[in-house]
Amino acid sequence: MPGRLKSPVRLRQDRLVTMRDLDAGELDRLLVRGRELFEGQPAEQFEGAVATVFYENSTRTRNSFQEAGRRLGLDTLQVGREGSSIQKGETLEDTLHTLRALGAVIAAVRTPEPGALAELPDVGMPLVNAGDGWRQHPTQALADLLAVRIAGREIQGARLLIVGDILHSRVARSAADGFAMLGAEIRLAGPPTLLPPGLAPALGARQVPLEDGLREADLVMVLRLQQERMERGYLPSLGEYRREWGLTVERLGLLRADALVLHPGPQNRGVELDAEVIYDPRSLIHRQIACGVAMRAALMEAMLDAR
Ligand code: CP
Repeated sequence: MPGRLKSPVRLRQDRLVTMRDLDAGELDRLLVRGRELFEGQPAEQFEGAVATVFYENSTRTRNSFQEAGRRLGLDTLQVGREGSSIQKGETLEDTLHTLRALGAVIAAVRTPEPGALAELPDVGMPLVNAGDGWRQHPTQALADLLAVRIAGREIQGARLLIVGDILHSRVARSAADGFAMLGAEIRLAGPPTLLPPGLAPALGARQVPLEDGLREADLVMVLRLQQERMERGYLPSLGEYRREWGLTVERLGLLRADALVLHPGPQNRGVELDAEVIYDPRSLIHRQIACGVAMRAALMEAMLDAR
């Protein structure tokens, strides 16, 4: 269509399963476009619906995809585990074909099964991983990268400290990939049960003592303690976890004045961080959520344009 607004981003893939599906150039261009959309530039308009297929609970990500879809002129189709034919044995592949037949042109999928999306055959529309078990949550990393850029910080050369339940965290894996791709140094701190030997090098990161890591960090990402993924006693108690590993008001005092604090949400107040941290001027926690809408809109715009 002559004069039609087009996404300036060209992607090689029409399925985003992990951050490694993007190269550094694509990631940078997506962030530039996400910033434009965050600042209110108009998005390209499409027909059809964004389908959100969430087999796990979500507040931020599902609503964010729906809101991003609205910015692109898309309706919403929504499927959850409860109340859907998944309960009658319908597969993810058949569910996606059904949604395609109902008018979906793109789908965001959250599943507890790591790698589920990578194994699916083509379903006739682009797919975005909205979190697959402990493995990846790429659009969270996109949101976090934009939040840092909008705060005016360079990612190249920044020290990102990720703290807490690394073992069960798809956010940690996606953030480690995404921030490293743009030149950040990744450091990890956490209890030995949740940061076992070998995990830091596997994520391209260095394990550091918590207090040293906090003093030296440009960016601190606090992770939620994922009790729903813990099958055995990883921790003596939540109180002890807070004392040993929480970003308490006292530990916040170790951070540089210009350091920034991230948390993907939902937060366990009084466990991995104190409530006061959420509202500290260095906290990007609510900005991350707003950036999620802009980045998901930028991503879906580019994926739909490529079709
Ligand atoms: N950060 C995140 O994925 O939050 P939700 O589980 O609420 O979507």
